[in-house]
Amino acid sequence: MDAADQALRLQLEALRPGLALEFVAETDSTNSELMRRARAGRLDPVLLVAQRQTSGRGRLGRQWLAEPGASLTFSLGMLLAPPDWSGLSLAVGVAVAEALHPSVRLKWPNDLWVQDRKLGGILIETAAPPEGGPARYTIVGLGLNVTPREGAAYATPPFALRELLPQAAPRAVLQQVAPPLLQAVLGFEQFGFAPFQARFQARDALAGRPVRLSDGTVGSAHGVDSQGALLVHTAAGMKAVATAEVSVRPA
Ligand code: BTN
Repeated sequence: MDAADQALRLQLEALRPGLALEFVAETDSTNSELMRRARAGRLDPVLLVAQRQTSGRGRLGRQWLAEPGASLTFSLGMLLAPPDWSGLSLAVGVAVAEALHPSVRLKWPNDLWVQDRKLGGILIETAAPPEGGPARYTIVGLGLNVTPREGAAYATPPFALRELLPQAAPRAVLQQVAPPLLQAVLGFEQFGFAPFQARFQARDALAGRPVRLSDGTVGSAHGVDSQGALLVHTAAGMKAVATAEVSVRPA
């Protein structure tokens, strides 16, 4: 750990006492590693950063692929007991987008987009602690493309942070995004999604655009409600969508 990493560790520790900052050269997936630890009863707060993942995972069983050093991949794990879980991934997205660049937009529910290309994604998973209770061990995984990659195999072409910030490097980006991300998670636990709603709208990549949901519903996107559900204006009226895949139809 160099001096900048030490400074990051102290910054994170000040926000969440006891939080450890851990770097590994390689793991299958930082989310999977923290899930294994949680299942083994290790529920301490940690931010685990991997230089390389051999089986990085995205939402809906997809893979998260990246060359070593080409992306920032980490997971934050900690016990959380928010009164309402809805909108957590949106709150995390808001914090990361704001920390990165004014051009970063949010594609409901979990993606970071620039110019309709995918800069990154968020994967949140939780585990119930063995002793029960309201808290769940919550794993917030973030993957960000830092240097350009081949886009042919992707439904949404990838975008790399270096296209916006030519000097961007994974470790420096970590130092930029980790404190606001942790702050957002802690703020969400206390106040829920409502304080993030307007901030999400300001970066909403779908606002006013025609969308198609995975259940076949078509309509136009009208932002999110105070719980983070996507509002879609359909032929049958306004529909609040809590979970679904959304594609943007070509205009
Ligand atoms: C998505 O685009 O569907 C979400 C991608 C999330 C990728 C990150 S990389 C760090 C963490 N570990 C994983 O295996 N996945 C998340």
